[in-house]
Amino acid sequence: MPAIEVRDLKKHYGSTKAVDGISFHVEQGEIFGMLGPNGAGKTTTVEIVEGLREPDAGQVHVLGLDVQRHPQAVKSRIGVQLQTTALYPRLTVREVLELFRTFFPGQTRTAGELIALVNLEEKEDTLSKDLSGGQRQRLSVALALVNQPEIVFLDEPTTGLDPQARRSMWDTIRSIRQNGATVFLTTHYMEEAQLLCHRVAVMDMGHIIALDSPGRLISQHFAETAVEFEDLMDMPAQGTFSTLPGVTRSQRDSATVTLFTTDTTATLGALTRLAEAGTIHFDALHVRRATLEDVFLKLTGRRIRD
Ligand SMILES: Nc1ncnc2c1ncn2[C@@H]1O[C@H](COP(=O)(O)OP(=O)(O)O)[C@@H](O)[C@H]1O
Ligand SMILES: [Mg+2]
Repeated sequence: MPAIEVRDLKKHYGSTKAVDGISFHVEQGEIFGMLGPNGAGKTTTVEIVEGLREPDAGQVHVLGLDVQRHPQAVKSRIGVQLQTTALYPRLTVREVLELFRTFFPGQTRTAGELIALVNLEEKEDTLSKDLSGGQRQRLSVALALVNQPEIVFLDEPTTGLDPQARRSMWDTIRSIRQNGATVFLTTHYMEEAQLLCHRVAVMDMGHIIALDSPGRLISQHFAETAVEFEDLMDMPAQGTFSTLPGVTRSQRDSATVTLFTTDTTATLGALTRLAEAGTIHFDALHVRRATLEDVFLKLTGRRIRD
């Protein structure tokens, strides 16, 4: 049984087709990401799946239960990160968690377990108002874990965080999953979806335009790997690079040469031999794959963050 199953889901607001007929499922134990620009329909989808909004059409099953018919049963088995920024400012981290534990009738995690799960050990006696943005976000994630949920929903958990706080949140999300929960998150950060998610639904204007693992999405759309380096001598004409084994296309942006290749090993070998012979002299050689940003650009003609 999948953790979440969504079929032909629709939600329109007047003439805005927020969600316009989407189907997908989330497997148990995976980190599933819904990736798309602002206004794509991510929050609308998530909140319908959580049972917080009514769809116009379509079916949603969570842990085998029809969300429309069994909203309470679903709510007791999921965890939802709250969007509020000020969480009881005058309570400490530990006190906020203790308070939330009293809201749940069933079995709950202890405050200590929750603090460890989101890595807030050093802040347990700090007032909620004195936490950094990233720490506050992790506290709000901890609140979603109180009732030992089987599925955790995180709507843009890292938006607005600096790179270090973002990485720390990624660790938290991975540990939620390692503790046995399924994670359904939304993001508009390509890199985040690529690094964190087992599978990603790429959403745009109410539609899912692609759905697969980040690796497969990229390899479906981009057969080649990019080999990039700085050409220090500015020597051989681009044509010389185009004829190297495996290379299908070469481009130069001032000193930076990018070679798209179907055979990275052969291309690197040939470059090395040219360098050893003194024909070329390069620096900062690296190999990179195409990214989800390249995929989104290819599918929509737009960048995800404009
Ligand atoms: N309650 C609402 N009333 C009217 N329009 C809404 C409402 N919620 C969302 N929308 C519209 O639906 C579209 C999708 O919004 P949303 O699901 O919040 O997207 P995302 O989370 O991907 O940014 C947007 O155009 C938004 O303005
Ligand atoms: Mg949103």
